[in-house]
Amino acid sequence: MIRLFALAFALIVGFAQAAQPSQEPDEPYVGQAGKDVIWVPTPSTLVDKMLDMAQVGPEDFVMDLGSGDGRNIIAAAKRGARALGVEWEEKLVELSRRRAVAEGVAERAKFVQGDMYEADISQASVLALFLLPVNLEKLKPKFERLRPGTRIVTNGYQISGWEPKEVGVAGGDCAPWCTAYLYVVR
Ligand SMILES: C[S@@+](CC[C@H](N)C(=O)[O-])C[C@H]1O[C@@H](n2cnc3c(N)ncnc32)[C@H](O)[C@@H]1O
Repeated sequence: MIRLFALAFALIVGFAQAAQPSQEPDEPYVGQAGKDVIWVPTPSTLVDKMLDMAQVGPEDFVMDLGSGDGRNIIAAAKRGARALGVEWEEKLVELSRRRAVAEGVAERAKFVQGDMYEADISQASVLALFLLPVNLEKLKPKFERLRPGTRIVTNGYQISGWEPKEVGVAGGDCAPWCTAYLYVVR
């Protein structure tokens, strides 16, 4: 009898758990406050487009300033690149690390909690960014000191006064935020 009750309980709990939405703990929401810019994710089709435009490969060191849930960094690591995300919100850093582990790229996809304006970006060969014009403007002096040939690919917003080498639009089910700009440091 006791066994029967235990089995019935296990089944009920199991069904209840299966019915839960598959939200991870600390899943961010669109518009979530951030230090200098809110969290809005780059659509996955545009992530791929941005990394294609920057021709990311195993020889690259990719950085994302304000890396959110880690999607740009994890996608870059899946292409064999070493990649580092800098994110102010500790919970997003932890979520990103969990996702990198789940995707099997934790060796190459690293995340640090920190301020993007303070980050050392000098070793990056690619920056994959989704930031506001005001953020990009403030980072511009750092961009100008990057090694010639470094690629900067931005989602949605342009770097003022810089001429993009390429403008790309993600197709498929991308919406919104589907245009990217590629710059090459000279
Ligand atoms: C628009 S979201 C972009 C997220 C991710 N890069 C993407 O493309 O999906 C901007 C991110 O920057 C983070 N952020 C805001 N101010 C920051 C700062 N000063 N330093 C580091 N991260 C910051 C926010 O928490 C948010 O996750």
